[in-house]
Amino acid sequence: MSRKALIAANWKMNGAKALIDSVSGALAKIQVDAEVLICPPATLLPLFPQTATLALGAQDISAEVSGAYTGQLSAALLKEAGASYALVGHSERRQYQFESDELIAAKVKAAIAAGLTPVLCIGESLTERQQEKTQQVIAKQLAAVYASHPKLLLKSVIAYEPIWAIGTGESATPEQAQQTHAFIRNTLASYDKDAAQQVRILYGGSVNAENCAALFTQPDIDGALVGGASLKPEEFAQICLSI
Ligand code: G3P
Repeated sequence: MSRKALIAANWKMNGAKALIDSVSGALAKIQVDAEVLICPPATLLPLFPQTATLALGAQDISAEVSGAYTGQLSAALLKEAGASYALVGHSERRQYQFESDELIAAKVKAAIAAGLTPVLCIGESLTERQQEKTQQVIAKQLAAVYASHPKLLLKSVIAYEPIWAIGTGESATPEQAQQTHAFIRNTLASYDKDAAQQVRILYGGSVNAENCAALFTQPDIDGALVGGASLKPEEFAQICLSI
């Protein structure tokens, strides 16, 4: 695979200084053939030791550059705190913060403008899958960001996270995930053929040390976005080693 694999951890609203130490310690012991990214709560970003082998990311960013936006964090502030990536449009933000495709598109632009790489999260709900609307939902989520700005693609990472697989222990099968990843790549190719081949598409949703290797054998799966299992240092290290 010519694309550099990426294993990303999303700690969500978990973790503390002690977890930084144990995860950094577990990763320091291994040689990984992939880029490793940790997205901790933003307050922990500056507490990470600076190493060339570990990238840091935010879990969300403001679409705004600066100003009277109480509680929001701009891409520039997060960059200064140590982030080089930012998750954008995670399903938990779409659900609990009612983030729209339009807002998410603005956040992708804000991330890139400030020099952060956005990891755009997309995926269908269980009902949408049962109604065979997966491709329709994903195509709409991608179009909102890239249809009129295909140039943003080369600077982005996509994370396919079926909502029904998040935190449920029920991962998509490698075949199910590959089918959707191939659809995502084909859709991206309709915006920019060359960029679509270079964009990394991660799978997220109940990835663990047991199911990751089979997922990673699929041609369009370029890594993972790991939630729960990323909070267990040894298991996360094992996932990084499985790529
Ligand atoms: O962003 C990662 C995520 O939503 C998947 O979470 O706990 O199912 O690995 P989890």
